[in-house]
Amino acid sequence: MPFNHNDHYHRLLLRQLPRSCSTALDVGCGTGRFARRLARLGVEVRAVDPSEEAIAAACTLSEGMPSGMVPRFEHGDVTELELPYGHYDFISCLASIHHMPFDTVTSLRDALAPGGVLVILGCYPEKTWVDWAWSLAAVPANAVARVTIAVMDRTRPASAGSGRDLAKAPVRPPTVPLLQIRQQADLLLPGFTLRRLLFWRYLLVFRNTAVGSTDY
Ligand SMILES: C[S@@+](CC[C@H](N)C(=O)[O-])C[C@H]1O[C@@H](n2cnc3c(N)ncnc32)[C@H](O)[C@@H]1O
Repeated sequence: MPFNHNDHYHRLLLRQLPRSCSTALDVGCGTGRFARRLARLGVEVRAVDPSEEAIAAACTLSEGMPSGMVPRFEHGDVTELELPYGHYDFISCLASIHHMPFDTVTSLRDALAPGGVLVILGCYPEKTWVDWAWSLAAVPANAVARVTIAVMDRTRPASAGSGRDLAKAPVRPPTVPLLQIRQQADLLLPGFTLRRLLFWRYLLVFRNTAVGSTDY
């Protein structure tokens, strides 16, 4: 399985889970790799994606998981769904928010239960010299990671795989610069944190600190 920048950050994302987490929503789940990881922790996961092929692959790849630990995969566009208010303990968007208008985060924010956490593993275009400097630093690290994973794959017995051979989740180049993402988040996600990650990604975390009700 080749080195994948989104999968690489799964553990970092899982570290953002609130202490008590029973329900989660994965937005743009693709073939469901992250949703399955979440579900294996005992979290009830709803995973949504508008790609029928990706959802079909996600279901196939989840066969054989212990019953009660299978994410609920749903074919759908999150911008058109009416999400339950104040419901989810954890909402994740891995490399998917740039497929939709950024203000979709408003409905995700409102769907968070008190104490709930929204995590966005985002992509951004290189627009400034700082962006380019980060990319330059990422290139050798990326090469080393690719080679390491390739060598490990050769020495490991064959596994069920990632599902990328079953179907590829749709991809799209990001267009909104990081500065603009920060500015929009400032308006919509008070108290958020955002940091750059090495492999052409950023991590945005928003915690719903409201007790009982959400009033923005
Ligand atoms: C680059 S893929 C990432 C897939 C997966 N999260 C991962 O980490 O491998 C982006 C995904 O976002 C999904 N997507 C695009 N528009 C969406 C929307 N409006 N609602 C939910 N998901 C969407 C795409 O179908 C695609 O599967």
